[in-house]
Parts: sequence; C-alpha cells; structure tokens
Amino acid sequence: GTTLGTSAAEKGRYFGAAVAAGKLGDSTYTTVLNREFNSVVAENEMKWASTEPQRNSFNYSSADRIVNHATSRGMLVRGHTLLWHAQQPTWAQNLSGSDLRSAAINHVTRVATYYRGKIHSWDVVNEAFADGGGGGRRDSNLQRTGNDWIEAAFRAADAADPGARLCYNDYNTDGVNAKSTGIYNMVRDFKSRGVPIDCVGFQSHLGGSVPGDYQANLQRFADLGVDVQITELDVAQGSNQANVYGTVTRACMAVSRCTGITTWGVRDCDSWRGGENPLLFDCSGNKKAAYTNVLNAL
Ligand code: XIL
Repeated sequence: GTTLGTSAAEKGRYFGAAVAAGKLGDSTYTTVLNREFNSVVAENEMKWASTEPQRNSFNYSSADRIVNHATSRGMLVRGHTLLWHAQQPTWAQNLSGSDLRSAAINHVTRVATYYRGKIHSWDVVNEAFADGGGGGRRDSNLQRTGNDWIEAAFRAADAADPGARLCYNDYNTDGVNAKSTGIYNMVRDFKSRGVPIDCVGFQSHLGGSVPGDYQANLQRFADLGVDVQITELDVAQGSNQANVYGTVTRACMAVSRCTGITTWGVRDCDSWRGGENPLLFDCSGNKKAAYTNVLNAL
C-alpha cells in the first residue's frame, strides 16, 4: 500500500491515530488523518471526566464527533478508556468504597452500552499496575474498592458490548519486566477463570531505544490467547527515532496476534509530549523519516 492504513489493512491490521475533537476543523490535520489512518482513538474525549461530568449525567458530544468522523469514513474506533485513576470527574474522586465501586461499574455499563457495536477495542482498564520492581497494583481510589475491581469492570463491559474486544492497557510494559509480568500473571489468571479479556495494549511511549525483548514480550502475551496492540506509540525525536519506529512496527508484524498500531497523535505539534516531536508527521503534515521506516515495515 501507499499509506499506513492501506498497508496495514493488506496484512489484516489497522494503523490508527489518537484524535482530538477540537482539531477536526483543521484541514492540514484532517487531510493527513483521512489519507493515512484507518483507525482512531479519542485522545481525551472518552475519559470518565468527559463522558460523565456529573454523576449519572452523560455527555458524548465531543466523543461522538470523533466516532462519526471515523465511522463515516470506514475507520475503526478504539475506545479509551472506561476506568483509569486519572482524568476522573471530581465527584468520582470524592467517592470511595462500595459507592465508588457501583459508580465505576455503572460508568462502564452506560458508556459501553451507548457505544455498543461501534467500538473495535475498548481499553476497559488503563494503567492499574505500579511502576518499579513489585509487579503489583497501583494504589488508587479504584484499587481501594477491592482487588477484584478490574475483573468486575471486564465482566460489566462484556455484558454491555459483547462484540467489542476488551483490552487492558498500560505503559512501561514494553519489555519483560516486573510490571509487565504482573500484568501477564493477571491475564493468565483471567483466561484460566473465564474473565472476559481479549487484548492487551502496550502504550509504547518510547525514548531512544526499544527493549531487546519487545517482540518476545508481545509474543508471550499472545501465547496466553489474547490479541496485543500497540496503543499509544510515540518516540522522542533524536537520531534513533526512525529506527525505533521501524523496530516497533516490525515486532508487531512478526506477532500474528498483534492486530494494530496506534500513534498518540497525528503531527508533532499535536503531541502531548511538547517539544519532543515524537510523531510521524511534522507540524506542516509532511512525512518524516520515521514514516518511511514504518511504511516499509508494514
Ligand atoms: C494524555 C493526553 O494526550 C493529554 O492531552 C492529557 O492532558 C493527558 O492524557 N497514557 C494514556 C493517555 O493512557 O490517556 C494519556 O493521554 C497519555 C498517557
């Protein structure tokens, strides 16, 4: 293919970008988005604070602008994210215990039901594991409702939208390390007990190198019987940026259950990583060297 999306599609995969609803009126942005990508994810608009700003009062207007933009053009939509310790509405931050648990599960049910049939893959739970060597859960208000909150969320999402792929998503999981192994053990346990999990997302916010066991780490999760996806790829600008992008893309292509790659934005100026210029297109929408390496690897 001649674009990221068509090339990925030829290999049965998608190539996506995180999209901000407020940029859909920027023609430089939409020209690149519509030409190159066949999947989108909302950068912020599907997070809890956005979709349920007041308890039991839901607002999908910004998220729907992104979903409609995508579906009317035949693009897939990743859903990000149903539950996360960050970007929660203030009312939820102030809850705890069984009240927070029921509010969280209600949130999962309502949002997944609203979007039933429209979401290819949902990040049901985002970033629930701690960094460092312990391999355990991150402390959060959700974790303090009980260790079973993650499986409760997956069961609720499955009941609401049985057709969506249900993913666990996290960062600093790009090689075999204590954090990724903690997640691996959770997924293995979920699969053994029939908890509905279909995929694991590897954010892959990277610097100048790729862990040597990046592909092996993807493969060990795939071997548990889940799909794997690269969900938020961006790579700090520097001499190695194009190589890192190529290596990550080749790793995904070498793992048959690696079903897609998403970059966390379109152009460098759209990135949450400020001056790091970590994406595939410059601020004018021109293709960078990293783009060529990705296209050649697809
Ligand atoms: C980031 C967005 O890009 C920013 O606009 C926002 O201010 C903070 O969140 N991991 C995730 C994403 O799962 O949701 C985060 O997105 C980046 C890190």
